[in-house]
Amino acid sequence: RQRESQSLYQLTEKAAEFYRAQLRSHPAAGNAVAYLRNRGLSGEIARDFDIGLAPPGWDNLLNALADTSEKADQLEQAGLAIRRQDSDGSTKSGGRHHYDRFRNRIIFPIRDQRGRTIAFGGRVLGDEKPKYLNSPETPIFHKSRELYGLWEARQANRNLERLIVVEGYMDVVALAQFDIRCAVATLGTACGEDHIQLAFRHTSELLFCFDGDRAGRAAARRALESALPNMQDGRSLRFLLLPEGEDPDTLVRQLGGERFQQLIEEQSLPLEDFLFDLLSEDINLQTMDGRARLSKLAAPLLDLLPAGVYRQLMLQQLASRTGLDKDTLQEVIRAEKART
Ligand code: CTP
Ligand code: MN
Ligand code: MN
Ligand code: MN
Ligand code: MN
Repeated sequence: RQRESQSLYQLTEKAAEFYRAQLRSHPAAGNAVAYLRNRGLSGEIARDFDIGLAPPGWDNLLNALADTSEKADQLEQAGLAIRRQDSDGSTKSGGRHHYDRFRNRIIFPIRDQRGRTIAFGGRVLGDEKPKYLNSPETPIFHKSRELYGLWEARQANRNLERLIVVEGYMDVVALAQFDIRCAVATLGTACGEDHIQLAFRHTSELLFCFDGDRAGRAAARRALESALPNMQDGRSLRFLLLPEGEDPDTLVRQLGGERFQQLIEEQSLPLEDFLFDLLSEDINLQTMDGRARLSKLAAPLLDLLPAGVYRQLMLQQLASRTGLDKDTLQEVIRAEKART
């Protein structure tokens, strides 16, 4: 099992080298380089993130790395080759039973905490669908447990005062381009508890900065729920809501790094404000009914917080917003819990 993983790591590393080399020397690389330039990325940042290119064609990687069918099977295990449905071994591509997963895409290698390449994300150069393609789950890649950019952030900072959690590869890379080298992204999945725990192993503050669209707001709410059980004393959570239609990539390119930083310092909301604002959205706190509804909505969320100063402070906040005292709110929490 371990030996198997070893060889998968070697294979993903070789694949990363292959993609990197293609971005430098493949005849089709000009388009890809122009695309990256267009998105504001320098060669230096592309190198820091080891960005590469999967050239057009069905078997570039297979031809480079798999001269035997065993090796093609291994590439399949690594998530890099796909077995043909109708493989009779005779047609199309020299008798191969596989074809390359990543074709004609910009390649973002995903590294684990130790810097080993474990998977890839690939972006089309135009408007084709799907826009992003990610490696599937493999013995060495579990997307719910990895954060894109974490290794790079750790390389760039001796101490990480905070991590900025964003949605996309390009958000991470664009922020780095503006010298904000502490962003990480989930990999096309919701930000779950494993992501939160991983991030808090490396910093004490998480700042969520998702896209200014419906999906981004849903992602923030989901991240909040994953984070609450992990809010031990000394940790902090903040949320930066972006203007409709913007994401960290588009915004940092408009504002530049300094003004983006400033936005973070001045406009991000601490956990308590974000949580209560979110819950109060459609509630009129001037009415008794509204205050009762807020207590009931907040109860299950506050109950996710571990015992500690944080939980007490949040209860106090809720108390001051609803005019109820803390004991009464404890009752509400117990009652709500019993109900579900
Ligand atoms: N994503 C994905 N598959 C898709 C679309 C999105 O896995 N078909 C993931 C990617 O990790 C992507 C993230 O969700 O980076 C955020 O999606 P979106 O905001 O739509 O893409 P951007 O990262 O903003 O893409 P870009 O700026 O390159 O257009
Ligand atoms: Mn495993
Ligand atoms: Mn989006
Ligand atoms: Mn986006
Ligand atoms: Mn984007």
